[in-house]
Amino acid sequence: MAELGFDGKVAIITGAGGGLGRSHALELARRGALVVVNDLGGSVDGTGSGTTAAQAVVDEIAAAGGEAVANYESVATPEGGAAIVQSALDTWGRVDIVINNAGILRDASFKNMDAAKVNPVLDVHLKGAFNVTQPAWEHMRGQGYGRIVCTASGAGVFGNFGQANYGAAKMGLVGLTRVLAVEGAKYNIKANAIAPVAKTRMTEDILGPAADKLRPELITPVVAWLAHADCPVSGELYSCGGGRVARVFLGVSPGITDPDLTVETVRDRWDEIRDESGYEVPADLNAELAIAFKSLA
Ligand code: NAI
Repeated sequence: MAELGFDGKVAIITGAGGGLGRSHALELARRGALVVVNDLGGSVDGTGSGTTAAQAVVDEIAAAGGEAVANYESVATPEGGAAIVQSALDTWGRVDIVINNAGILRDASFKNMDAAKVNPVLDVHLKGAFNVTQPAWEHMRGQGYGRIVCTASGAGVFGNFGQANYGAAKMGLVGLTRVLAVEGAKYNIKANAIAPVAKTRMTEDILGPAADKLRPELITPVVAWLAHADCPVSGELYSCGGGRVARVFLGVSPGITDPDLTVETVRDRWDEIRDESGYEVPADLNAELAIAFKSLA
């Protein structure tokens, strides 16, 4: 089978100065994409900033014969997001791909979670995706083409101790991705999300013995496929790490329908309500409502 190329496609990758984003940037550029390597250059908790991380990746891409431009803006503000998209437009006149990858951590148990831990995490992960994707969206709609990949996390999708802020932001990205898929459909804009596991500076202390198998380069093929013109899906979520790739989906069980529902009925039929057999996977809210209305007929 022919190799998948990105010739002439302009890709914005946020947080691409290290970890997963760097790997995505190197691979897309190697395959012919023109890449905005965005990175604020701070520490894992989001403090500090610098230009060396993004510039080093641009230099690596250039040394390998690819084309990239560095951008040091923060995704956490609308102005930063606009400037990141403007950098693509100023350099190449278009934007085809947005990979929302920038991220920080401020973990604490929910009891100890305060505004200084919640707001920056929501700002970078969740609002960051709004801030960058929205100015790009306008151009994608206009050109009738776009690919958006959001970096979610199992911490939000499945739940993880100490990550209420991060988990909420990451599951918020799944909701954003699904709505973008619905709204983008008629413009050939596809939006999908990943829930990765990889050894980066963010996770190197917590992954244990499996860490060395979890190379960032094993996340990138999934992201590249979701960012490619041939990507067949939109609004979906994929779990990946160490070369494993699997779909994560929201299913709806058949449940029960009782027009005279009482709390006792809910209690007495609880096992039936919870029974997972025969579930369906609605593509969007309309599909879910169709299932619900069918049961009322
Ligand atoms: P990383 O810390 O190496 O990469 C994150 C990058 O985002 C850093 O280079 C950082 O400077 C940049 N960044 C932070 N705030 C920014 C801002 N306001 N504007 C622009 N850039 C900013 O960590 P990693 O693991 O590569 O993380 C990439 C994404 O993957 C993050 O969204 C993270 O939450 C997510 N993720 C990673 C997992 C893993 O196992 N490594 C697991 C689940 C999700």
